[in-house]
Amino acid sequence: SVVVADTGDIEAIRKFQPRDCTTNPSLILKAAQLPGYASLVRELLDAAPKDGDPEAVLDRLTVRIGTELTKIVPGDVSTEVDARLSFDKDAMVAKARHLIKLYEEQGVGKDRILIKLATTWEGVQAAKELLKDGIRCNLTLVFSLEQAVACAQAGVFLISPFVGRITDWYKKAQGVESFPISEDPGVQSVRKIYAHFKAHGYQTVVMGASFRSAAQVEALAGCDRLTVSPQLLADLAADEGTLERQLNPSEGHEQESELTEAQF
Ligand code: E4P
Repeated sequence: SVVVADTGDIEAIRKFQPRDCTTNPSLILKAAQLPGYASLVRELLDAAPKDGDPEAVLDRLTVRIGTELTKIVPGDVSTEVDARLSFDKDAMVAKARHLIKLYEEQGVGKDRILIKLATTWEGVQAAKELLKDGIRCNLTLVFSLEQAVACAQAGVFLISPFVGRITDWYKKAQGVESFPISEDPGVQSVRKIYAHFKAHGYQTVVMGASFRSAAQVEALAGCDRLTVSPQLLADLAADEGTLERQLNPSEGHEQESELTEAQF
């Protein structure tokens, strides 16, 4: 699997050297409070008109932090469109184009960015439209095979099927503390999606997301990409072996698809 860091924290990225990284509005706000971004945040706040639109400041902050991330990861940086727009296709398309324009002003091409959209019907339609402009999307909040297939059939570049939020749900619903990893419903959901995609030859990249434990990450080793928080990357690195070896059961971590249907 390609290792992706689920963070906007530059120091953590320097430490774990993932190929890609993913952000969302809460990760951006968390990153913005780190000392390394203090001067950037000050500069943006000083430049913002006092009666200006706070959303405009947030967009600039998102893109400026994303731009810093493009300087340290060689691959894709995911930048999310606010989930409040998730049921309005035109608003999502407009916001995505605006974010790409802001990136281009910073000298970052759209080939480095994945626009993250929620996997609603409207989100899938927005991704389809954006692809015509050469803007690739990461469809997030995927909880079911049906959502995943809708993305693949629309030609979406990448999906982020969630693990932890599904497991959290079942833990509450069944009143249990934990699941054995072989019965973890979040892990099973991503395995099912991955196996289905490979069996049908779908090109859409599958990136497991929303992990709660290193065991969940390891259980999905071989999935195209895995986006993992710095805390869990540290837990994984503390185990024996390099991250690449752990997350790539066979040799050659450059390859994106290694899990076979049989393994799932
Ligand atoms: C990644 O792309 C997601 O934003 C992230 O993994 C979500 O994880 P959460 O369930 O911890 O919010």
